[in-house]
Parts: sequence; C-alpha cells; structure tokens
Amino acid sequence: MSKKLWGGRFGQSTNELVEQFSESVSFDQRLYRHDIRGSLAHAAMLHSISILDDQELADIQKGLKGILTDIESGDFEWDIALEDVHMNIEARLTERIGDAGKKLHTGRSRNDQVATDIRLYLRDAIDDILLVLHALQIALVELAEREAATVMPGFTHMQTAQPVTFGHHMLAWNAMLARDYERLGDCRKRLNICPLGSAALAGTSFPIDREMTAADLGFDSPSQNSLDSVSDRDFMIEFNAAAALMMVHLSRMAEELILWSSDAFKFVDLGDAFCTGSSIMPQKKNPDVAELVRGKTSRVNANLFGLLMLMKGQPLAYNRDNQEDKELLFDSVDTVLISLEVYAAMMPQISLFRDSMCDAAERGYATATDLADYLVRKNIPFRDAHEIVGRTVSYAVDNKVKLADISLGTLQGFCDKIDEDVYAILTLEGSLKARNHVGGTAPAQVKKAAAIAKKVLSGARSD
Ligand code: ARG
Repeated sequence: MSKKLWGGRFGQSTNELVEQFSESVSFDQRLYRHDIRGSLAHAAMLHSISILDDQELADIQKGLKGILTDIESGDFEWDIALEDVHMNIEARLTERIGDAGKKLHTGRSRNDQVATDIRLYLRDAIDDILLVLHALQIALVELAEREAATVMPGFTHMQTAQPVTFGHHMLAWNAMLARDYERLGDCRKRLNICPLGSAALAGTSFPIDREMTAADLGFDSPSQNSLDSVSDRDFMIEFNAAAALMMVHLSRMAEELILWSSDAFKFVDLGDAFCTGSSIMPQKKNPDVAELVRGKTSRVNANLFGLLMLMKGQPLAYNRDNQEDKELLFDSVDTVLISLEVYAAMMPQISLFRDSMCDAAERGYATATDLADYLVRKNIPFRDAHEIVGRTVSYAVDNKVKLADISLGTLQGFCDKIDEDVYAILTLEGSLKARNHVGGTAPAQVKKAAAIAKKVLSGARSD
C-alpha cells in the first residue's frame, strides 16, 4: 500500500500535508553525487565482510552508476512521497536491480548517511570556494604590485589621516582574505572525519570495517563516537562562521568601492561591465555588484545564526530538526561562491583616477604628522610638536593653502627650528617614502610585501 521504505509498521498512509511538510528532496537532491559516492563505498565494504556477494555488489555498482547518469541527464523523477534524496535513490536502485538493492541499507541508517553526505558535500564546496578566493587574492596582489607607489589618502574616522598607497590598501584587503583562507582550511581539516558506520545512533551489530569506508571516501579517519557523529553539525557552523566573517570582509571592501566610485570621491571606476544603470536617471552608473555583496552579507550572517539556533535545543542523538540545516548551508555556499567569483572578475577591471586620489590626500593635510615628526627630530617634544603643527594646519585652512605651499618665513613663525629641508617631508611622496619598515606604506615596502604575498599564494595552490 505504501511506497515508504519505512512503511511496515504503519496502518495509514501519510497525511498529504505532512508529506509536503516533511519532504526534503526538493532541496537535498543536490547531494545526489555525494549520496551515491557514500553508497558505493558502503556497498564495497559490505562485500568485503561478505554481506554482499560478488553479483550483488556488481548489480549495486551498476545500478547506482546508472542512476547517476539518469540524474545528470535529467531523466530521474524525484518523488516527495519518498521524502529525501537518500530514499529516492535507494528506491530507484531496487526498482532497477531487484533484491540486491534492498540489501544496501544493511548496517547503515539515513542518520549516518546524511551526516556523511553533507561532510562530503561541504568538503567539495570548501575546495571550490578556496579556488575562487585564491583567484581574488591574486587579483588584489597584482593590483598592489602595479599600484605600489600610487598615492591615496588613508582614513581614520573617514577623515583624511595620512597618505598611503593604493597598493598598500589592496594588500590590507588581501591580509583579511588570507585569514579567511586559513580559517576555511582549518574547518576543512576538522570536518574530514567519517560518520558512516554510526548507523542510527549506536553503531551496528554487523562487523563493519569503518577504516575501509573512511579511506575510500577520502576521510582522514572514522569518527570516534556514534551518538555524536549522527548529531554533530559543528562543522557546518564552523564553516558558516568562517563564511560569515569572509562576507563581512567582502562587505567592507564593497563599502569602500562604493564610496570610491561615487562622484564625491572619484577614486576608481568599476567598469561598465560591472555596473548597472538607472531606469529614470540617464547619467547613473551604479555600483550594484558591491552593493549586492554588502546586502548578501546579511544572508550569510543570518544563516550562521540560523544554524546556531537549530542546534541549541537538541538532545542527542539525531533529530529531524537537522533537516533544516541544508537550505541554510547551501545558501551560504552559493552566496559566498558567487560573491567571490564576481569580485575576482571585477577587481582586475577597475581603473583608477590617480590625480583625484592625490588631490584628495593634499586637500586633507595628510602630511601634518610628518611635520610633527620632523620637529621631534629637531628635539621638540612630541606633544609640543603636535600643538605647533595644529596651529600651522589651522593657518593653512584659513588661508586655503597646502602645507607644502606655506613660505619658509611663515613656517618659521610657528617654530624657528624649521629649515628649508622641511619641504621634502611635506610632500605626499616624502611622507610615503618615510614609512619604510615592515608593514609600512613606503612604495618599496609595498612592492616587497606584494612579492611575499604572491609567493605565499603560489605555495597555497601547489599543495
Ligand atoms: N532528510 C533527513 C535529513 O536531512 C535525512 C535523515 C532522516 N532520518 C530520519 N531518521 N528520519 O536529516
């Protein structure tokens, strides 16, 4: 009467609403490759302990591979009456190969099956993300190399602070992303253990070989506690936390790109291919890519919160609540991937308005600290130097002149220790050049830092 694989103890068929309410196949079907891979490993192990004979194993392997081809060519009909990806595939297997299909679930439960599938899925997803993240990092570092000496105002409180180079700014972005890369790598290491064999929650009475399935699936080892294995979703939360933080970084970058491409700043042009127009204002070229990345950051952060809340009330071991983990996880993976891809494509295309960045740095008296440092070198205590330069800047503001355009006589009126050599340090170039130490913005340092970053990146890909 019922097509349910668990229908034996049920006298009535499932309420239609319940069927719609509880199905997950509409979204977990994307796990099909990982589910089939897990089943192939499980079947090979069952054969090795003589639960399946040669023929049965061959039939299962052929059946599962046929199903894989059907799914990939769109010839597979998913059925919500069969709840999820696991039972859809298993039911079809039995339809195709007969009784051998019914033996596949020996010593296994959907609880360890789904826990295995999502680890396999997330491992692949992290690898995909790392690849694009790496491409974006390369784009930033190449930009840094090219623009190692391009001056722009550096800000604190969004007020002009000191001159920096555009290359230095790109390397700051790269430093943020390099930590994200490491975090995702850490998460990948921790998730790479195999829950298969934990069965429903307590393990199984069959003499299974968990080392064999773990190795077959590329895991580092089998998991150590069956109760934990079927209920643990820490790895997803960890991934989503790393993803949320990475999106926060991309969002901060977005915020700067949006400001920089505004008319008020006019530091960069994001390129026509990466902007959109307005349906009413013909002059508009909007930085929608950056705005959407900033907007999508909210989804990924919300997904993290969703996963945390999903787990907080769950007693051991598996509970159906866990089915709610997938859409949040998938959404985070998709959002992070597309955001990184679009940035990696956009960043090499941006063009710079170097004069306008330079003007902005001049306008903001960005070399005032250099003047104070100059006075300190002439034996004036820093606090006094700060006060003197404050008065000098106030004079420059009132008289609408740049610091470097104030005459020596006038400067000496603020402090008689000032000499002709002051002009070398009042220029933007002088200020940049002076910051010549590890982590500083001197063009020579930025070039060096970009070369080191490039080397690190080429190492990251070759392992
Ligand atoms: N679709 C389920 C999930 O995503 C699979 C595991 C179901 N297990 C169960 N005992 N009902 O979690």
